[in-house]
Amino acid sequence: MGDTNVLETTEAQIAVHWQEEDYYYPSPKFIGQANVTDPAIYERFSLDKFPECFTEYAEMLTWYKYWDTVLDTSDAPCWKWFKGGKINASYNCIDRHLKDNKNKTAIHFVPELEEERIDHITYQELYVRVNEFAALLRDFAGLKRGDRVTIHMPMSAELPITMLACARLGVIHSVVFGGFSASACADRIVDSKSRVLISMDAYYRSGKLLNHKINADEAVALAAKDGQVVDKVLVWQRYPGKSSTETPMADGRDYFVNDVVKKYYGARVEPEQMLSEEPLFLMYTSGTTGKPKGAQHGTGGYLAYVTAMSKYIQDIHPTDVYWCMADIGWITGHSFIVYGPLALCASTVIYEGVPTYPDAGRSWRIAQALDVNIFHTAPTAIRALRKIGPNEPAKYNYHFKHMTTVGEPIEPEVWKWYESAVGKGEAIIVDTWWQTETGGFLCSTVPAIKPMKPGSAGPGVPGIHPIIYDEDGNEITQPGIAGNICIQNPWPGQMQTIWGDRDRFVKTYFARYCKNPESKDWRDWPYIAGDAATRSADGYYRILGRIDDVINVSGHRLGTKEIESAALVVQEVAEAAVVPVAHEIKGKEPDLYIALKPGIQATDELAQKISDAICNQIGKIAKPRKVWIVPDMPKTRSGKIMRRVLGAISNKGDVGNVMTLANPEVVETIKTLVQKS
Ligand code: WT7
Repeated sequence: MGDTNVLETTEAQIAVHWQEEDYYYPSPKFIGQANVTDPAIYERFSLDKFPECFTEYAEMLTWYKYWDTVLDTSDAPCWKWFKGGKINASYNCIDRHLKDNKNKTAIHFVPELEEERIDHITYQELYVRVNEFAALLRDFAGLKRGDRVTIHMPMSAELPITMLACARLGVIHSVVFGGFSASACADRIVDSKSRVLISMDAYYRSGKLLNHKINADEAVALAAKDGQVVDKVLVWQRYPGKSSTETPMADGRDYFVNDVVKKYYGARVEPEQMLSEEPLFLMYTSGTTGKPKGAQHGTGGYLAYVTAMSKYIQDIHPTDVYWCMADIGWITGHSFIVYGPLALCASTVIYEGVPTYPDAGRSWRIAQALDVNIFHTAPTAIRALRKIGPNEPAKYNYHFKHMTTVGEPIEPEVWKWYESAVGKGEAIIVDTWWQTETGGFLCSTVPAIKPMKPGSAGPGVPGIHPIIYDEDGNEITQPGIAGNICIQNPWPGQMQTIWGDRDRFVKTYFARYCKNPESKDWRDWPYIAGDAATRSADGYYRILGRIDDVINVSGHRLGTKEIESAALVVQEVAEAAVVPVAHEIKGKEPDLYIALKPGIQATDELAQKISDAICNQIGKIAKPRKVWIVPDMPKTRSGKIMRRVLGAISNKGDVGNVMTLANPEVVETIKTLVQKS
């Protein structure tokens, strides 16, 4: 990285800048009912109480056997939490609630079509369906503890049923976001070595019934080319008892779950007593290289952490109706639609479709119909809802006590609309900063204790001790100076490793500031999150954006290398460079620069072909704003593509001094091309 200021050349440079905002205080009504109100919680979780403090979180769960060691550091930095403990996640999210709450709704499934009835699944019904499907997975699909399964499903009640059935057996699930392409699904099948793929025939999106089964066929074919054979494809039906896809079922490979499961009606499966550190799931995420990495999350530590965060930060009580609008295919959905809320015996809402379908009032009608009182979404959705229906929330009779924002920085103006219009001035807001790798929240206010500050995530949550380092590893203590935000201590929700690539895990998250690579002491292994941040005098952190080659589109991570590799599959392409460009709703969008092989003409058709290649390989979410075919890339004398210069052009910013480049003249040419259109 040399001596150049890394922060200057990355997204932080084009991050939104704003002034310190005033505090907003929680209402006495909120405080009166909150799960935690005693500020002593920060004292209980101070660094000198580490790691024993986290037993408070583990105690929220039901264990077959208690742990011997709270934190085992012998394989640093692959920490093992609650070592020696035995536990099952499915038992904790279902069975333990049956005695007192079997008739309570666990899942409200809301179909996208408003003429279809909402499905209310009680804890007892969830128990029955998870057991039957677990029996099918074990006896029909031959799956056992430690096997991996890839799940490529849309938002549906069957998705958490599938995950919990895996967890019951100790099968490691790897859920791929339903909107991802077959090719992205295939990569994850190959990396996790899954021999079973679980899919669904179809789902609704913006009023259209999309054929999803076709992705399973393509994914299986692509995985086979890479040497991974999938021998069973289990397909749930959107309308049980009837197929909603024209894609044929391959004989001896593809099975409709709704047919096969009949053999298992009434079956009960004893939950596996998992070691606390055995993996619960993999969640693939983008990084600085082309290949997505499988964040491996453990069972006991992860579940303890998300349960505690749901209780203390989301303030979930068993009587609450909780709606997180994220997709279960992302970490937010795993932690805060499925595992956290269900471990606390809440009712969790799963909505199939688009929040603004068929109109801007849809989300608020759902909130009204189900009497939702906790609401959780991302700035990109808030911006979209504000744009198309700023006055819609007032038309509906719902009342939120609590709202969350997650995934990217929220502009104070948007925050204020969220607070006054969506929250009707009655709801508290938590701005939760965290990552796929961290399992649960890192920074946020504890809602009844700390006031809110628009645009700031807040201090570290209890037990998380952030620190900001400069490029040389010195702590930055002055307020308002940006640096690399790190966490000084391990915590139970932290990923255990990258699936199959321990070296990459150590390199990506620890190498930068590790004090001694031989050390078994956690103090020597600060975790680097990959975000730039500032801390203000009150100890609140403001997240500025990624310091690495990751672009945050609508709160979802895409690696620039991932998109560039997809573009390079088009054979006319010689070089590709992706930069983030600011977008009103999505936060950021990828802008793609292309240099063609010699003798090839730039045409609109070719630009379209490159854009299509990216959608096919990754998914529509990665679609570039524009494909700019340029005569040459701006390069340093050593041949490095200057993405900073391209980023400045895309964002109509200052390109700075380019005279040291190998080809400074190309900058003007590109600028004219981009800025005139
Ligand atoms: C990256 C992680 C956390 C679940 C959803 C995204 C950005 C996340 C915030 C926030 C500012 C945020 C960071 C982070 N981010 N939450 N509240 N304020 N930025 O998970 O896909 O792993 O992305 O999202 O840049 O590193 P992810």
